[in-house]
Amino acid sequence: MPRSLAAAARPPLLVLMCAQAMLVGVAAQAFGAKVTLPQTYPLRFFVVGDWGRANDEHPNGYNQTRVAQMMAKKANSAYGKPHFVLSTGDNFYSFGLRNLSDHWFTQKFTNIYKAPGLQVPCSPLYQLDPALRKRDWRWHAFRNRKLSLAGGKVDFFFWDTTPSDVYSFYSCWGGFKGGVRSQSWPNNVVWLQNQLAASKASWKLIVAHHPPLSSGYHGVNPEVQVAVEALVRKYRAQVYFAGHDHNLEHLHYCDSSFYEPNYHIIVSGGGSRRYTKGFGTSNGKPSDYYPTDPSSVWGALTDGFVAVTLKAQEMVVQFYSTDFKNGTTAVHVARIPRLLKPGPDLD
Ligand SMILES: *[C@@H]1O[C@H](CO)[C@@H](O)[C@H](O)[C@H]1NC(C)=O
Ligand SMILES: *[C@@H]1O[C@H](CO)[C@@H](O)[C@H](O)[C@H]1NC(C)=O
Ligand SMILES: *[C@@H]1O[C@H](CO)[C@@H](O)[C@H](O)[C@H]1NC(C)=O
Repeated sequence: MPRSLAAAARPPLLVLMCAQAMLVGVAAQAFGAKVTLPQTYPLRFFVVGDWGRANDEHPNGYNQTRVAQMMAKKANSAYGKPHFVLSTGDNFYSFGLRNLSDHWFTQKFTNIYKAPGLQVPCSPLYQLDPALRKRDWRWHAFRNRKLSLAGGKVDFFFWDTTPSDVYSFYSCWGGFKGGVRSQSWPNNVVWLQNQLAASKASWKLIVAHHPPLSSGYHGVNPEVQVAVEALVRKYRAQVYFAGHDHNLEHLHYCDSSFYEPNYHIIVSGGGSRRYTKGFGTSNGKPSDYYPTDPSSVWGALTDGFVAVTLKAQEMVVQFYSTDFKNGTTAVHVARIPRLLKPGPDLD
């Protein structure tokens, strides 16, 4: 079966599939003549996940357009046009792309992110079919791929965590062709381990759908947590970008022991529809702004995105929310220093 037909055979599933990995391009040249990715610091990129509802599936309208407008404003500010946009998965709600000519691609991607400042490569899986690039040159979707930038000083690992999710695995759509039951979580973990072991980059950055830790509706993903913490402890990946929970959160897991992992998790899953429940309580009342995970630095149950500036020694992550100052001022800024030493060899 041609790949496109195989892909067409996965229906609702797609959402999670897409969710899976977020991808971007493999190697700079894979982006084609139209696309140049930076080979020097600083790198500027947006991260947005769990988007693709346009605005028409809810009586009050979802906020995909609003978040896209906030992204456009940021691109027009002193920050400048981002070099690229990372998607942390779950694109094209509610069912994923249903074929390669699906109008949702136009309606929920091309026409939403239409501002001039957003005409940069975007990484979101049908989604995996390079033929989509004929519809929109910005589209670069891959699963389990490494992307090296800044002359090899920065390695992004686009890691597919969906096979770790027991719910996805046993869902009715888990068995569709190309779906999660035909994939292997242990293989994906070994892939990441081999990639991290081989990487000589100063910044090792993981991009995936499921966060290891989270205060959001889905919370901690234990399979991902166990795998990631063993790897970041040994190989010193500093930052893990995720979506899955429809909110924004910054977590820093740092144990006092030198031998424990020290890494930041940036959850950016507010691309179009916040959950209506999921965060903690303040004075006994449910609150959208009280993240509950012990490692949480800041979090809000809100729509939004993050804008990242990556320099040699520091990563600055600015969080933009529709709930605060209409999205024009960052509501939280994370400053993440590069870890200078590689991890201890624990073997
Ligand atoms: C693609 O899927 C959409 C939505 O299900 C459908 O309306 C359209 O006819 C399909 N196009 C092709 C070429 O199969
Ligand atoms: C869209 O964002 C606004 C402002 O933050 C919020 O009040 C509204 O509830 C959001 N809409 C939906 C459907 O979540
Ligand atoms: C907030 O931003 C949205 C989208 O840019 C805009 O439509 C709305 O008018 C703004 N509201 C205020 C109070 O500035």
